[in-house]
Formats: sequence, structure tokens, C-alpha cells
Amino acid sequence: MPPRTQVAIIGAGPAGLMLGALLARHGIASVILEARSRTYIEHRIRAGVLEQGTIDAMDEAGAGARMHQQGLVHEGTILRFGGRSHRIDFRALTGKAVMIYSQHELVRDLVAVRIAAGDPLELEVEDVTLDGIETRKPCVRFRRAGQPHELACDFIAGCDGFHGVSRAAIPADRLRVFEHDYPFGWLGILADVAPSSPELVYAHHDRGFALLSMRSPSVSRLYLQCAPDEDLAAWSDDRIWSELAIRLGADDFTLATGPITQRSVTPMRSFVAEPMRHGRLFLAGDAAHIVPPTGAKGLNLAIADVRLLAEALAAFYGRGDATLLDAYSELCLRRVWKVERFSAWMTQLLHRHDAPPGAELGHRLQLAELDYVTSSHAAATTLAENYVGLPLR
Ligand code: APR
Ligand code: PHB
Repeated sequence: MPPRTQVAIIGAGPAGLMLGALLARHGIASVILEARSRTYIEHRIRAGVLEQGTIDAMDEAGAGARMHQQGLVHEGTILRFGGRSHRIDFRALTGKAVMIYSQHELVRDLVAVRIAAGDPLELEVEDVTLDGIETRKPCVRFRRAGQPHELACDFIAGCDGFHGVSRAAIPADRLRVFEHDYPFGWLGILADVAPSSPELVYAHHDRGFALLSMRSPSVSRLYLQCAPDEDLAAWSDDRIWSELAIRLGADDFTLATGPITQRSVTPMRSFVAEPMRHGRLFLAGDAAHIVPPTGAKGLNLAIADVRLLAEALAAFYGRGDATLLDAYSELCLRRVWKVERFSAWMTQLLHRHDAPPGAELGHRLQLAELDYVTSSHAAATTLAENYVGLPLR
């Protein structure tokens, strides 16, 4: 590893790896520092809906071949309530579509590109600390295999997720945090069974939300609304499948079941930290913001941040123009808040919750809004244009 680089990237999740790949395309050097092993980052089960902007970034990074071979293009999605299905036609409403391709497969593709290019990816590092972020000569210190290392750089990209060290490097009196923890979570499963629907199904039910998604023509991914601290041991496979069948139930639908290969409970949160830049430190992805998964936006928002950051760094190194770097935080946050709004709206609309004005009235208002969204061209277009991805800026 060189003792100095242009951009030190902390974290080899989608944000850090994509930033490294896009910078390489501009001939900008970077070093990625990651706390976990290659096996861990390449097998961490997360979401899997890609906006067109993320697909374009994968192609720009030279990492899109497998995605185009194995990804499933979806031109619409299903909203189900009152036991009836309503299709939102993304293609007709926006001219765009999304792609189903697992986040960990995307990470694998980006790792492969980085290693093939011989660009530094330091895995299993420890005790990462940031220094000099308010100077023109920041550096990152860390330990690897017990040895201390110091990496000098021009800029630090904090892509180390919600629990990373980068955000904490910004003085508390300079950071503003907005957050909300939802009073429910998702019980998610992976199952070796062909998806029971050609498109995703978002189901509103008085027993709670359910989502039918997929990973491939033979692997399904499904979610149930549950308590944030739900006890997985209380859920037998039969109970999971029968609850899914009830909540996803509709006249024209039969849920196929199969072996469950992975299960987990995920709490749900909305979180934004402002600003996303402090001196020579730039935050991107989950290090700066978290969205509830209902809008499938977490991954896409992380990629949108680093597309902007890569463009800004390319302008700085290419022609000494710091305008975009100076506007980075403001430009990102404008988009982040819109995506937070959409994700919160989808969450409020589709989950059973007892928030005021009272469960029953709230439930009826949700049904009325679902009826409006699925019967108004204008409202359906609003959902579709947010789901397929808002412009980068
Ligand atoms: N030092 C080095 N690496 C670290 C440290 C640290 N102190 N702390 C965390 N990391 C690494 C993690 O191990 C992880 O691989 O940073 C990476 C952060 O990756 P993600 O959490 O995936 O965050 P991001 O790249 O912003 O991607 C956001 O991931 O969590 C999903 O829903 C989220 O889809 C969204 C996407
Ligand atoms: C997923 O496939 O894991 C998934 C899809 C859509 C969502 C959330 C998760 O809104």
C-alpha cells in the first residue's frame, strides 16, 4: 500500500467500492480501507432493487456485465390491498424500469474490478482513525495484521456505514442529526422457491405489511411486518408461510412455498446527518443517511452520493475547479431529503401502525390513499418516478 494517495476511502460497501471504481475511471488514485474480510462483504444479504442511475454507474465502473446477464428487469410493481392487485406501470408512466440484482452480487462485481485493476483494497483493518480533516493534509491511521499504518491523502471519503467512524470525526457542534425509529420491523426470509409473482408485490393488510420480492427465477425474498425486536424463535417455517399467504392473499394469487435458507429481523429507521462534508472529509451512503427499506432506496442513494462525489473530485483534479466539491453536501442533501420523504411515505402508507389519529381511522385513510394512488394517473406517476429514481440533481 502506498504511504499516500489522493482519496482515502473508508469502507468497502457499495458506496466505497463504487467511488473507488469511478475515481479510477478518471485516473484518480484511491485506497479503500475495510474492517471486514472479502468473504464477509461479498456475502452480506441486503436488498436488491437497482434504479437506472445505479445500473448506469455499474456500467461506467466497468462492472456491469454480470448484472446485465443475471439481473431481472422489472417494468412495474404490484400494490395489493383489500385482497386485490393493482399494477403500477413504471415504463408507461416514466419510460423507465428497475432491475432486481442482489446488493452482495453488486459488491462482488465491484471487488472483482478493483482487484483486476490492482487498485489497493486493504481488508480486515482495525482501529481506523481520521486526522487533519480541517487541514489540507488529512490522513488516516489504522492497524493491519497488528502493524500500525498511516495513509496521507488529499481527501477522505467516509463510506463506512451507519456504525462507522467517519461521521463521528465531525465535531458534534458542527453536525445536525434527524432521526426516527419506527415502531415495527421486517422479518425477512430467503427461500429456494420460484417467485410466485413476475413482479414485486407490496401488500397492505390489517394484520400488517408483507412484501414479495426475489433474487432469481428460483430464489424468493419475502418480508413480513413484525415488532422491531421480534423473537425469530417464535416463527416456525409453517407460521411464516401461512402468515405470508394471508397477508399476500388475493383472488388471482397462490403463494408457492419452499425451503427457507436465511431469516432475519431488521428494525426500521429514518436518519439524516447534516452536513455531509466537513473540511476534507466527505460522507456518503449509510454513513450520512438511512432510509426505511420500503422504497428500496438505501443502495441507490449511496450510489447517487458517490456519483456526485466522483464527478466533483474529477472536476477538482482535472481542472482545479472546486465548485462541485463545495456544493456536494447541499446537492446530496436536497436529493437525500426527497428520497427520505418517499421512503417514509411508502412506510407510512403500507404498514399497520397505531399512530394518531387512531388505528382504525388511520387504516381507512391508508386504504383511501392506496385507492387514490392506484386510480389517479397523477398519483401513480408520482410513485413511479420516485421508485425508478429521481434525477441525480
Ligand atoms: N473501518 C473500516 N471499515 C469500516 C468501519 C471502520 N471503522 N466501519 C464500517 N466499515 C465498513 C463495513 O464493514 C462495511 O463494509 O464500511 C462498509 C459500509 O458499507 P455499508 O454499510 O454497506 O454502507 P454503504 O456502502 O453506504 O451502502 C449502503 O448498504 O446497508 C445497506 O441499506 C443500505 O443499501 C444500503 C447500502
Ligand atoms: C428486496 O428485494 O430485498 C427488497 C425489495 C424491495 C424493497 C425492499 C427490499 O422495497
